[in-house]
Amino acid sequence: MSRPQHFGWFLARGFGPHGWGLPSLDWDYDWTAPQLYQESARTLEQAGFDLLIIEDAPSLGSAETIDLRVRHAFGGPKHDPFVLAPYLFAATQHLGVVPTVNPAAYLPYTAARQFASLQHLSGHRLGLNVVTDTGSARHFGADARLGHDAAYDRAEEWLDGIRSLWRSWDEGALVLDRADDRYADGTRMRAVRHRGEHFDFDGPLNALPFTDGEPAIVSPGGSERGLAFAGAHSDVQLALAPLDEASVRAYRDSIHRAARERGRTPSDVKVLFAIQPVLVSSPEEADRLVAASRTPDDSALRAIARRQSSDLETDLTVLDLDRPLPEGLFAPHVSHGSIRRLVGDHDARETPLREILAAHARLGRISDGTGWVGTAGELADRIEQLGDWGNDGILLWGDLHPVTVHRMLDELVPILRRRGVLRREYDGAGLGANLRSF
Ligand SMILES: Cc1cc2nc3c(=O)[nH]c(=O)nc-3n(C[C@H](O)[C@H](O)[C@H](O)COP(=O)(O)O)c2cc1C
Repeated sequence: MSRPQHFGWFLARGFGPHGWGLPSLDWDYDWTAPQLYQESARTLEQAGFDLLIIEDAPSLGSAETIDLRVRHAFGGPKHDPFVLAPYLFAATQHLGVVPTVNPAAYLPYTAARQFASLQHLSGHRLGLNVVTDTGSARHFGADARLGHDAAYDRAEEWLDGIRSLWRSWDEGALVLDRADDRYADGTRMRAVRHRGEHFDFDGPLNALPFTDGEPAIVSPGGSERGLAFAGAHSDVQLALAPLDEASVRAYRDSIHRAARERGRTPSDVKVLFAIQPVLVSSPEEADRLVAASRTPDDSALRAIARRQSSDLETDLTVLDLDRPLPEGLFAPHVSHGSIRRLVGDHDARETPLREILAAHARLGRISDGTGWVGTAGELADRIEQLGDWGNDGILLWGDLHPVTVHRMLDELVPILRRRGVLRREYDGAGLGANLRSF
């Protein structure tokens, strides 16, 4: 038997019209109603997944780029995933649900109280994907705009504050003695008086303490500051990194080092690598798909340009495919990382846009480590290999349409189960307990 791993699903475009432009939309699901998500959440639970993470960004960007965001629904609209979470808890018994939250959007006391309420309502299955996107700051008041590292500093103060509120009930504060007519003992509750750089608030929190642990903290930041945050606070780190052995081990080492530096045990942080496989029914079909991806037609290139335009807040669809990117195309606020991801190893001043976009169309095979196209068996082999290198788990990335979920899982789950990589049952005491069970 192989090493068991944790599995999660990342709803990559958030609580929005994901699936827009795909034929599966003709199944007539309404993205604003809960049934679509509930159906897929039940399937993920049946499959033995630990958690479902829902991406979020609270902003449509700047006035000049709103149309780019909404035209093809790549950057919005987005409804609030925290409000969707209770519907998913109501439809499941074991699955952890992890909405994305930005500390800029919640005062610590409000956050501590709402998160505590949902942790109780869900049977201790809540997780929080804590992100520090600074682009949406202007929606939350003038103080909210901070630099990259300062936003992480504020997130740490926010989380420490929330935890001090959650911990404001000491052992024995909740009495529940009917004979003595004593519900709680206020002398065992801490007043909590926080006066910090970003927040001022008093406690104690008027929500009950937890019986099965605090909400799990999930984090996705890959910068040095982001990894330090994960080492200090996270139960789960989402990782985007090349998946060769040296890179996997190096990424895990960096998280473990960060955890040790903050006095934690490395195994407290589970690292889940995010992947988006394309599963097909035979190796021959995989070969055909990979070969076809070498010669994308203009409509395929335009589709890639549309996707990239939303993230880059720059309309690439109007550019000449046969000329290099015009100089000064990107506004100064556009993320340099995103521009680098678009251009790759090309020389942007020389290379026609067609070539840059074609590199994004190019697929590779799971079996030779060049990409993520393959059969369920080949993917299972690859996941098992990651486990041999010490990997904790996998995050499958996509929309949450039942067609997408079934296409990915129907063949894969039985194979992983037979090999002992995917759990057959849950611990029963919530998300934290499931994450700690191996
Ligand atoms: C797998 C993954 C998921 C992410 N999900 C979100 C998200 O839902 N919302 C968001 O604003 N940022 C998201 N991010 C971006 C990070 O929060 C962060 O802003 C970004 O990685 C920059 O931080 P860094 O410089 O520390 O990497 C995600 C990143 C990764 C790798």
